[in-house]
Amino acid sequence: MTKHKKNMRVLFVTSEVSPIIKTGGLADVSAALPTALLEMGVDIRVLLPGYTQVLQALPELKVVFEFGSQQLTDIFSMPASRLLLGKLPSGVPIYVFDCPELYLRGGGIYQDENGFDWADNAQRYGVFSKVAALLGSADSPISWRPQILHCNDWQAGLVPAYLQYADKPALTVMTIHNLAFQGNFSAEILPELGLPWDCYKADGVEFYGQLSFMKAGLFYADHLTTVSPSYAGEIQTEELGFGMQGLLAHRSKLLTGILNGIDLDVWNTTTDSYLKHHYDAGDLSGKAANKRALQQHMGLQLEADIPLFGLVGRFTQQKGLDIVLEAAETLISLPAQLVLLGGGDIEMQRTAVALAQQYPGQLAVHIGFDEHLAHLIEAGADIFLMPSRFEPCGLNQMYSQHYGTIPVVHATGGLIDTVIDFNPTTLAQGKASGFVFKRSNGVNLLATAYRAVIAYKNKKIWQALQKSCMSKDFSWKGSAKAYFDIYANLMDK
Ligand code: ADP
Ligand code: GLC
Repeated sequence: MTKHKKNMRVLFVTSEVSPIIKTGGLADVSAALPTALLEMGVDIRVLLPGYTQVLQALPELKVVFEFGSQQLTDIFSMPASRLLLGKLPSGVPIYVFDCPELYLRGGGIYQDENGFDWADNAQRYGVFSKVAALLGSADSPISWRPQILHCNDWQAGLVPAYLQYADKPALTVMTIHNLAFQGNFSAEILPELGLPWDCYKADGVEFYGQLSFMKAGLFYADHLTTVSPSYAGEIQTEELGFGMQGLLAHRSKLLTGILNGIDLDVWNTTTDSYLKHHYDAGDLSGKAANKRALQQHMGLQLEADIPLFGLVGRFTQQKGLDIVLEAAETLISLPAQLVLLGGGDIEMQRTAVALAQQYPGQLAVHIGFDEHLAHLIEAGADIFLMPSRFEPCGLNQMYSQHYGTIPVVHATGGLIDTVIDFNPTTLAQGKASGFVFKRSNGVNLLATAYRAVIAYKNKKIWQALQKSCMSKDFSWKGSAKAYFDIYANLMDK
């Protein structure tokens, strides 16, 4: 690590950060990765939109700049806005782009109360990206000038595009957390966003006749990363490239897959603030107490020895929720119990609730976002289901392993890179950490869940498996260093 780079200045541009505002894994990564980089000596700060929840959670924010028309000149009818500065609970400094007209509202951060995308998302994240780019240019209104802008997902995708037109632009890293979400909008919005028409071309922001925020980031950023080595390969194929595979294959020398880590301050069996019963690999009695607490909380029968399957996640095709729902009745007849936490697709929610009504005591569902219950499921379940059709990285399978809750996963993306299939050899080597199946469908899920149940019945084998999972290092250390090296290499060029 060269000395002068220890103090490099990085702005981490993201649309969510735990515990303040979270819809998925991006929030967890946006909290933990900057913290790990700060600990390595990087002068890193986060930029987040000023959503209602952010202004409520961070009351100590100070105004550092009030935007006037001269800073955001080319943004059409730019409403009143300010840049605020505060600190995240981790101590990482955070800039908040406060623009009430765009971010201060009820509903979700990307969607309204009825689950429809906000009609002005292009403006909301276009202006956000514009502000990030401004901070990374010679025209920045504040004195702290990042050398690197680390942009996350489509919401920050326009940053590298804006920087094409900026004076003394910062370098950019674009991280893909999920290529299925691309931020594609009608090109008519370009002038309103202050982008010239000359970037609207195949070698630019155009993507099948639309303006694509993700494409913009992938085309213009100086370096690309995604959240697991396997996914870095998969997105260069037609099957999982969502139309971007050609561009990604073309830029593959600049594309690095870096596995996410887990935040051990938040997800830790010995300190988890959401749990009454703590435990570790040496004494798993606390885990049994959590299982009982989970059964009680969800109205399941209080049986200590029945295998309890858990799932936490968005109810979508990506996560294979339809496959779980199809397999649910057979699964609980093994016999087993099943607890589901999540929300999303209305039809899937209905099916899940109907199953829970049909099989009280055996199958329980909680629809909604519940951080406390997510921790209790990770700690209290025996087996964790993750039959995702694709999974850029996935955090829950890592939380599960750390919690001694053995994952059953489809061999895709980050699940391939983090779960080693159980067999006598991998068990003897102390490497086995779950049950893996190829081709995500109900039959394969059930066959693999059954393999897990057989293993569960042999206490000696099961405990060996739990110990091998719990001894794995999922910390951010190695991955944060990989990001550090990418920043440093870019600055060397
Ligand atoms: P993704 O980002 O694709 O949704 P990840 O596995 O990377 O998937 O991360 C999901 C994160 O969101 C995890 O921290 C998980 O515990 C959390 N999560 C998902 N759904 C819920 C929910 N309904 N309640 C609480 N936490 C949830
Ligand atoms: C995305 C992906 C998930 C990943 C997370 C954090 O939401 O779907 O696999 O773990 O981002 O990188």
